[in-house]
Amino acid sequence: MIITMANGKGGVGKTLVSLILASALKKSGASVSLSDRDPQRSASGAAEAFELELGEGGDIVIVDTAPWLDHEPTQAGIRDADKVIVVTTPSPSDFARTVHSIKTIGDIRGGVDEVFVAFNRIQNNSFGRDRALLNDAFGCRVFDKCLRSRTAYEQSMLGGWKSLNRVAQNEATELALAILANVSSKKKSSK
Ligand SMILES: Nc1ncnc2c1ncn2[C@@H]1O[C@H](COP(=O)(O)OP(=O)(O)OP(=O)(O)O)[C@@H](O)[C@H]1O
Ligand SMILES: [Mg+2]
Repeated sequence: MIITMANGKGGVGKTLVSLILASALKKSGASVSLSDRDPQRSASGAAEAFELELGEGGDIVIVDTAPWLDHEPTQAGIRDADKVIVVTTPSPSDFARTVHSIKTIGDIRGGVDEVFVAFNRIQNNSFGRDRALLNDAFGCRVFDKCLRSRTAYEQSMLGGWKSLNRVAQNEATELALAILANVSSKKKSSK
């Protein structure tokens, strides 16, 4: 199964969510690898700290992409994925680019059936209230689990999964399980 992280906007947390999600799935017993499609190579640089295999082996491949949706390896990751997770933040300045990215991703895939938004860097308690509105605004489903803004996540780029405190690990695991639950209930694939 291939799960691709995407957004034509830079710095929203695609790489961090790729690493955290791959680690959480691995800790839950899945065989996971990380495919780095971004020439900036941030995921490759942090893979060792997270004790993750780079490449496309195992049952689940998490694909991290570049912030340019006209980039061919990024487009291939979007096209081939069973599930595309559009990582974004609650920052109003990310909103328009995320809406535009979802449209482009829909064009690449021929629809947004298996395209989901995952919120990262949540800072307050308005997430639940805003989520229903955003479902409509984005035109695709928004996960009801999110990652908060935490220094622990930032530091994990060096220290890996084991450097995260229990609260952050649990939060990441909840998002990973929400993604998996959705994957298996919507479409089964041998990819
Ligand atoms: N939930 C979070 N809490 C704290 N810091 C975060 C969080 N998510 C991401 N960051 C930090 O924000 C920065 C950007 O994150 P990241 O590199 O994952 O974004 P990206 O979307 O992959 O960027 P690019 O488009 O350049 O590849 C990094 O320093 C990362 O550690
Ligand atoms: Mg990145």
